[in-house]
Amino acid sequence: MTSADPHGTQVGTWWKTLAEERSPVDLKTDQPHSARMYDYYLGGKDHFPADREAAERTLAVFPNARVAAQANRAFMIRTTRYLAAQVGIRQFLDIGTGIPTSPNLHEAAQGIASDARVVYADNDPIVLTHARALLTSTPAGRTAYLDADLHNPESILDAPELRATLDLTRPVALSLIATIHFFPDSDDPHGILRRFLQVLPSGSHLTLTHATADYDEGMERVAAAYRAGGIPAQQRGRTDVARFFDGLDLLDPGLQIVHRWRPDDDTPNDLTDAQVSFYGAVGRKP
Ligand SMILES: C[S@@+](CC[C@H](N)C(=O)[O-])C[C@H]1O[C@@H](n2cnc3c(N)ncnc32)[C@H](O)[C@@H]1O
Repeated sequence: MTSADPHGTQVGTWWKTLAEERSPVDLKTDQPHSARMYDYYLGGKDHFPADREAAERTLAVFPNARVAAQANRAFMIRTTRYLAAQVGIRQFLDIGTGIPTSPNLHEAAQGIASDARVVYADNDPIVLTHARALLTSTPAGRTAYLDADLHNPESILDAPELRATLDLTRPVALSLIATIHFFPDSDDPHGILRRFLQVLPSGSHLTLTHATADYDEGMERVAAAYRAGGIPAQQRGRTDVARFFDGLDLLDPGLQIVHRWRPDDDTPNDLTDAQVSFYGAVGRKP
């Protein structure tokens, strides 16, 4: 199968990406993976035929997937800069990091505060193979990478690398960007989040984005396409996404479709809620 990539060149099965040239761990290349499909939407080079074919099936039912991924990524950068510059956060825990895409979270945070410390975590081996790009900390700051599964919060919170990098007696910004919609209700994502928020001290923040079909029912078909590809996925409506912030004080402007959260000069002003279809917010633990 051959299809056009975002740059207009041809993508075929003959086309070897960087990921295909080096595979030190079992990347299960015959199955689509969410990190690699997302990399495809963002115009990256780390995906395999199974990922590209699954991503094209998503684009067929939700043609704005690339726009949505970019808006989601831009929200991650804006919120990180805001937390570093306006709130004074110096510690970040980013779970479901994805394949590095510059600027990464630590680059955004350390661009404001060079002493910022960032721990990344993901359970996809392809992200692990790229972890070096996430470990390019400033000398004053520090970054660490955990190959860990969000289903097991303690494997992250108790990891020696995390404890050596973050001081859990001081506020931490926990980010779950485009990750928790891979947790169906049967995985109890609200309960998983509560375990993190119980451990993190007052003044910590949660930054979360989540796919929704509230504005475009195509997003429900996206979730179905992911499930058909073997990736658990569940879009959620506004009320269920808001529940992730129970017990937290939402920062202005509250829960928004992500391009509406403190847009900056780089935010396109012609985006619609239906195109973006990702809720996002930042909440503070009192
Ligand atoms: C759509 S990508 C988002 C990447 C990045 N946060 C962003 O928004 O640019 C979702 C990421 O969540 C990760 N993920 C999914 N389930 C996970 C789990 N159980 N534990 C850790 N990471 C997970 C995937 O491997 C993937 O890298």
